[in-house]
Amino acid sequence: MSLIPNEDIEAVRSATDIVSLAAETVVLKQKGQEFWGCCPFHEEKTPSFKVNPATQLWHCFGCSNGGDVFKYIMLREQLDFPDAVRYLAERSHIELHEVQSQSKTGSKRSRLFELMAKAEDFYHRELMRSTKPKAQEARDYLAGRGFNMEVSKRYKLGYAPGNNKLVDYLLSEGYKPQELIDANVAVRRGQRVFDRFYERVIFPIHDEFSKTIAFGGRIMGSGEPKYLNSQETQIFHKSKNLYALDLAKEALVLSSKAIVVEGYTDVIGLHEAGFKNVVATLGTALTEQHIKILSRFVKQIYLIFDGDEAGQNAAQRALQFIDATKADFYSVLIPDNQDPLEYISEHSSEEFKVLLEAAQPLIKFVLDKTLLSFDLSIPDERARALNEGAEALVYLKEGILADEYTRYLADVLNAELPTVKRAVSNKRAKQRNFVKAEANSSSQPKNGYNRELSAKSLPLSQDEALALNAERELLALIASYPAQMQQYKERIINLSWFSKLNSMIAQAMLEQGEDATATRLVQTAKSIHPRADEILSAGKLLSNTDIEPSQTVEFLLDDLTLKSLQRNLREKKTQLKHPEAFDAKSYDDLFEEVARLQKEARYLEHKMIEASKRV
Ligand code: CTP
Ligand code: MN
Repeated sequence: MSLIPNEDIEAVRSATDIVSLAAETVVLKQKGQEFWGCCPFHEEKTPSFKVNPATQLWHCFGCSNGGDVFKYIMLREQLDFPDAVRYLAERSHIELHEVQSQSKTGSKRSRLFELMAKAEDFYHRELMRSTKPKAQEARDYLAGRGFNMEVSKRYKLGYAPGNNKLVDYLLSEGYKPQELIDANVAVRRGQRVFDRFYERVIFPIHDEFSKTIAFGGRIMGSGEPKYLNSQETQIFHKSKNLYALDLAKEALVLSSKAIVVEGYTDVIGLHEAGFKNVVATLGTALTEQHIKILSRFVKQIYLIFDGDEAGQNAAQRALQFIDATKADFYSVLIPDNQDPLEYISEHSSEEFKVLLEAAQPLIKFVLDKTLLSFDLSIPDERARALNEGAEALVYLKEGILADEYTRYLADVLNAELPTVKRAVSNKRAKQRNFVKAEANSSSQPKNGYNRELSAKSLPLSQDEALALNAERELLALIASYPAQMQQYKERIINLSWFSKLNSMIAQAMLEQGEDATATRLVQTAKSIHPRADEILSAGKLLSNTDIEPSQTVEFLLDDLTLKSLQRNLREKKTQLKHPEAFDAKSYDDLFEEVARLQKEARYLEHKMIEASKRV
């Protein structure tokens, strides 16, 4: 046990202001001499939590918790008393003079911090000053990533030369081999210890108070592992720490938004471009603790995942936190599979801002991603899309938001709302059972594919099947007549498509321009959906030699326009049956809209009949 002297405890207490501490997570309003807000320790809508700047005490009349600053931090950070004191000491930059009794944890901790600071300085000096060719290579490497010496200075980047240079240096500074191992800057082989990092660029990792707690070492060029990171130590916990949190803190609070990326280099790139509210996880998935820490500072969390598959899975995994805090989650897709650093290197800050503004709520982001991975025109795939979409919705607490997205899922799938609702509640039941089963530690057979939701439960209606057919015919025409079809580009892109996938394929093919060959267009389509070639090859109209291709296209476009008009009309007419859901004005507008659509539909029908008479 280590003992923290009473004077130190009192010094920390008087350096800490309960009001500003509470204000980190609670919106406070002054009433008389006290400040009131919603209690951070239990759910409530009206404030029953108050802090008193004079007494430096806090109390909640709702959950009856209360006490001093230490008690506050013990509850908020889930720490025991000594660690709460240490936490607040770090926050106020107060050095504790911990006295050892049986164990030495306290001073061991502070020696670890010192050792890490020394190691960081060492690596940094090597990068900034060493004249060795390898150190020059490190500088060149960083310059190649767009990081000049000023940047290296700001983030204390370093270079690990290896050859046991760090071990020798730290031993000469009086550290014991075991301390080097405990800090994970060295590894033991036989009787001796060796540098853990060698010939790598070093990204030091700091805690919230800028103390060095770990290193990420990147190989220069290619090789495995790309990053070698510190393992967990007494002062480094991947699941709790975030890269650059110390540098981002102020901007987090000011903007009330956090941007979370995956890589160290992404953080540096974005900070340098002026986005200071950016942090990264440390080579691990986002955890609930990360989220809790961020939600102390912000109300909105923007998650930016790399475009690769790992990134997409990470987005899905992050869904589980949606209801874990009060913060709202958004996600952004960076175009062209770029990561944030690549993007910001090639685009302006303004453009990145535009991306952020286009961020989608995380749930919608994941739903759309999921739905796009299926060809919704194939009944079997629609069933699977429903299955996976429902899976995503399980993470939302039952309520308005869950209802809204259930409806959204039904809309996109063109499915009946009750069918989708049933799918979601089945999933919920399954999840509850699963949780129960986990708790009873009896494992339940994993049922990946949901039988109740087999293909038959989502058949296409006759109309839908016809619309799909027509869309596929159109796709086949686009692939076969790349140049001729360019003149219809506008109209095709603006069609209201039944299948989102089909519309994406059409757009991608048309974007290739008039010089593209048909084979190139097929490749383009396949890049959107692996089985697109089956769709493109299935066109029947192509083989009809009685009609000019241009006539065929006109006819098809009219047909598709008419079909979407009719879908639209059906929907609006259903709405008309429920006048109670509208105010008078919007009901009239709806009525007019229906009349207009009807007129347009009749015109198209007429036009098509005339055209068919001509052939
Ligand atoms: N990472 C890791 N170990 C690896 C690869 C990645 O710990 N072998 C972690 C690192 O924290 C890294 C993050 O995952 O910053 C993101 O990985 P990646 O996108 O591959 O790295 P970038 O930071 O983009 O690296 P770079 O741009 O240098 O390729
Ligand atoms: Mn990356």
